[in-house]
Amino acid sequence: MSKVKLGVLLSGRGSNFIAIADAIADGSLPGCEIAVVLSNLTDAGGLNAARERGLPALAIPGKGLTREEHETKLIAALQEHGVELVCLAGYMRILTPLFIRAFPQKIVNIHPSLLPSFIGTHAQTQAFEYGARVAGCTVHFVDEEVDHGVIIVQRAIEVQDEDTAETLAARILVEEHKAYPEALRRVLSGSYLIEGRRYIQRS
Ligand code: GRF
Repeated sequence: MSKVKLGVLLSGRGSNFIAIADAIADGSLPGCEIAVVLSNLTDAGGLNAARERGLPALAIPGKGLTREEHETKLIAALQEHGVELVCLAGYMRILTPLFIRAFPQKIVNIHPSLLPSFIGTHAQTQAFEYGARVAGCTVHFVDEEVDHGVIIVQRAIEVQDEDTAETLAARILVEEHKAYPEALRRVLSGSYLIEGRRYIQRS
């Protein structure tokens, strides 16, 4: 059976990418392979982590380009590598409809809050400062609104009195590393329905 080709987009250290790669390597995320890792930043740590694993890893900087020009390059690189499912893993640029329409219902993202609370950047600090008693992460399909698409998986933790914004973010990250492979297992099963905003697993 041929494996579904994943393309990962990241801008940072890439710990979620590593969680996905490790899950593929240990057999807990079967039926897929990472075809390419792309970043808008040449110095993204995640690119080095990908190269250490022998994976194609390319920086495609956006500087001096319009968003659409940049995304056209990203789309071309993903298509050249045969990517069927795009995984945003700490990719820090908002995607335009041009990119989203190139991979309809085939882009997933992880966000470090229980959506729809705390969209945008620094979601963990937003949750901490708001005084939320429960925090967590969300893996969702990407649509044309920021942090908005159909939710696949959420994982929640309780905020502890002794937490700081930093310890809370670190504990949410532990959950992210479980949530992303779990969401990909679900989506790659191909056995799900989407009814309105609801993701329903069939098996
Ligand atoms: C994660 O917190 C993710 O939820 C957010 O960006 C961060 C990326 O971290 N979208 P990493 O690069 O995967 O370690």
